[in-house]
Amino acid sequence: MKCRKCGAVAVIKMQQHKLALCEEHFLEWIPEQTERAIEKYKMFGPEDRILVAVSGGKDSLSLWDVLLRLGYQAEGLYIHLGINGGGYSDSSLGYVERFTAAREGAKFQVVDLKADYGQSVPELARVKHRGRKPCALCGLVKRHIMNRVAYEGGYHAIATGHNLDDEAAVLMQNTLRWQAGYLARQAPVLPSVGRRSPTEPRLARKAKPFVRLYERETAAYAIVRGIEYIYDECPYAVGSTTNFYKELLNQLESHSPGAKLSFYLSFLQAKGKGLFSEPAEILKLNDCQRCGQPTTAPGLCAFCRLWQRMDSG
Ligand code: AMP
Ligand code: FES
Ligand code: ZN
Ligand code: ZN
Repeated sequence: MKCRKCGAVAVIKMQQHKLALCEEHFLEWIPEQTERAIEKYKMFGPEDRILVAVSGGKDSLSLWDVLLRLGYQAEGLYIHLGINGGGYSDSSLGYVERFTAAREGAKFQVVDLKADYGQSVPELARVKHRGRKPCALCGLVKRHIMNRVAYEGGYHAIATGHNLDDEAAVLMQNTLRWQAGYLARQAPVLPSVGRRSPTEPRLARKAKPFVRLYERETAAYAIVRGIEYIYDECPYAVGSTTNFYKELLNQLESHSPGAKLSFYLSFLQAKGKGLFSEPAEILKLNDCQRCGQPTTAPGLCAFCRLWQRMDSG
């Protein structure tokens, strides 16, 4: 297998693009594709300060690396959730710290849920979810904290490492249940709402620059580039529905290369033509009375309700 650009030995073949590349050209191709997605979906520009949400995994560390290589002002945010008695979160943080130490000028901050708010995700879940998997609650916590840090720090956008496999799996879940609201809001970039005045709802812009890249490509990029990342996924994600859909989509992909990509891109095209438009009532947002973040609820947002119930035992 030879590189299409130079004829050297290829390190990866991407069937969906009928493209094989050598190490050097693959390391060029990933940033080119990322830049194209950033421009195509109007995510952000070189003058904007970007908050990259980094988990210590291959996608978000590769994303941060690519954004820095492309010259973006990208600063990291790690949220310590206290997973696995804190052990899993500690080791994930270690990868982020080593990544940063190896890059001059790369800045990042840590929000520690237990230290800053009083409870870790598993502790919250034990009380709130009666021992059920904490993933939904964890997602809520992460979204809230990312949004707060982005707003308070005056960042133009939050960038996350979601790749095409992530998006296609979510799309499949939403499609199987025809969840119109979720379908309407699934996009490579979500605009910010009301950043001008503190009395308006405030929601940071969210961008997923790796949205057109397959998971195996982001993993290959990390490996070829020598980025060390946490290999194990969160223990709670093992056996998750999302992983099951990812496997199904990979079976489909091996049968017809490109199926995952076209499933997602045709969805975006359909949306562009006006399918899945947002129901009017979902657009109505209020300010949370405690934290000021936007919420569809009339009083407190879901995050603040969580802690209120916690306080009252
Ligand atoms: P996940 O929901 O674990 O698939 O992660 C999706 C994206 O959310 C990652 O690519 C990161 O950008 C971000 N993310 C996940 N976990 C964390 C964390 N603990 N701290 C900061 N960002 C995170
Ligand atoms: Fe939040 Fe696994 S990362 S539950
Ligand atoms: Zn080459
Ligand atoms: Zn709130």
